Amino acid sequence: MIPSFRMPGEERIDSALIFLKRTGEKYGINPRRVLDAGSGPGFFTRILYVLYPAADVYAMDLSKDYLDLGVEDCSLKSSKTVHADIKYPWAGERFDLVIGMNVTADDPSAAEGWSALPPSEFLKFLTPGGFFFYTTPEFDPIDHRPSDNEVIQELIKRRMNLTPPELKPLEHKVIGDVDRSIEKEADFATLYRYEPLKQPV
Ligand SMILES: C[S@@+](CC[C@H](N)C(=O)[O-])C[C@H]1O[C@@H](n2cnc3c(N)ncnc32)[C@H](O)[C@@H]1O
Repeated sequence: MIPSFRMPGEERIDSALIFLKRTGEKYGINPRRVLDAGSGPGFFTRILYVLYPAADVYAMDLSKDYLDLGVEDCSLKSSKTVHADIKYPWAGERFDLVIGMNVTADDPSAAEGWSALPPSEFLKFLTPGGFFFYTTPEFDPIDHRPSDNEVIQELIKRRMNLTPPELKPLEHKVIGDVDRSIEKEADFATLYRYEPLKQPV
């Protein structure tokens, strides 16, 4: 059964869970160690505790305030929160599932229209063969229905341009509701497998 912790405006959380559950069964994702990198106050982390009850699930964020808030409202387990910057390794710790969900970066040098940490920043936390679930909010070109093949192809192209060769994309999906009233926004998810490049002999 799929646990539901739906919050107002958090359809993307349910949608991400369904995607992760389905692809998890398909690709045999059975993680022992999970990192929710850029967890915020843990809207998705608490879903991960239920989805992977036998795993060690860690929540990492740059904002101590968000982590504290998550612990306070019981979304996060205090012993498994990490106050750190994704841009730096965390004592060499690696995980067989890493989540990077809408990790928006306030970086003035970021390319126009691109405000999320790119997939390459998460590689340092992955074990070989591990899975990476990555989502970003996308604005244009959601001019039509999100299921339009044309739109999906455009989003896939954007994502592929940012993907390092060690990350093999397994599946893509538009998740959550498209909020056209504000910005024509939709979240776009990709599940990757980390396949390190072979060293030349
Ligand atoms: C839009 S929130 C998303 C939170 C959560 N992943 C979700 O989907 O509900 C982005 C989060 O990424 C965190 N963040 C941004 N850059 C980060 C970095 N370099 N290292 C760690 N956390 C970061 C922010 O502090 C914030 O909590």
